Amino acid sequence: MTLELPRLSTKDMLCTSASTLADISAIYATTRALKAGREVHTAVLRHKRLAMIFEKDSLRTRFTFDIGMQDLGGSAVFMDHRDARLGSRESLKDMAKNLERWVHGIVARTYKHKALEELAQHAEIPVINGLSDFVHPCQGLSDFFTLTEKWGDVRGRTVTYVGDGNNTCHSLIYTAARLGANIRVCSPEGYEPNSRVVSEAMRTALESGSEIQILNDPVEAVDGADAIYTDVWASMGQEDEIEERNGIFAAYQVDEELMARARPGALFMHCLPAHRGWEVTQEVMDGPRSIVYDIAENRLHVQKAIMALLIR
Ligand code: CP
Ligand code: NVA
Repeated sequence: MTLELPRLSTKDMLCTSASTLADISAIYATTRALKAGREVHTAVLRHKRLAMIFEKDSLRTRFTFDIGMQDLGGSAVFMDHRDARLGSRESLKDMAKNLERWVHGIVARTYKHKALEELAQHAEIPVINGLSDFVHPCQGLSDFFTLTEKWGDVRGRTVTYVGDGNNTCHSLIYTAARLGANIRVCSPEGYEPNSRVVSEAMRTALESGSEIQILNDPVEAVDGADAIYTDVWASMGQEDEIEERNGIFAAYQVDEELMARARPGALFMHCLPAHRGWEVTQEVMDGPRSIVYDIAENRLHVQKAIMALLIR
């Protein structure tokens, strides 16, 4: 099969706020083509190399980028950066200028989003965000790709995110707003998503028809929802706050009772890793409405599409 690989409007994939609807449509069309029949397309990125630089732990992102690169005919080199922040040994500019001489793309998982922006600014090659403290674009794109598989059109559907207004939540908001899905976020006071993300998404929503609501009451937020999404209460880098957050977020656990208040047949979503018994119960994680492993599988297919469209 010959794949059509149109150029995206950006060199990098740092945040979905920069992706146009045409970009996301191209990513999803490529994802569908790559996923169909589980064929391996080794001609797409034959002999291309990917650098993977991670300041934080990972299972899904690390495996899926590495395997995805192999499926497309290329290879990946992993650099474990968990012992030192990026930029501490040499400048991000020098790192970018070296890497672009050896590899054709970079995936980085960082604390500071700024570090990714700096890498992207100085590298001629594409930089893909494998999660920063600010956003998790490949996750948001996989979340909504999975929903398009389940529902067909996501426009007019409502996804309620219950929990911390974090990186995963920000990408969910940006992607929903672009695709015309409704997004409600329900967090304890003081843990709402970044107000800049919300106002930017609200501007996008004016074009797409998406409705965005920020709430504090989970029962109100899930009423009529087509899917309920949650993530950990303390993200990587917030380990010192775990105990305090476990208390603050206790009323925000997604359990059978909360699921029952959403639409009949509402789906359960989580980016994983999940802390069973905290943000979600065992029953909901393992229940018939849970699509968490479908999303995890689609990380592979969606990221293959992103790499196929960005790496030249
Ligand atoms: N959801 C996700 O990004 O998982 P990892 O942290 O395991 O990569
Ligand atoms: N919000 C989580 C997502 C992990 C994939 C974190 O940043 O740790």
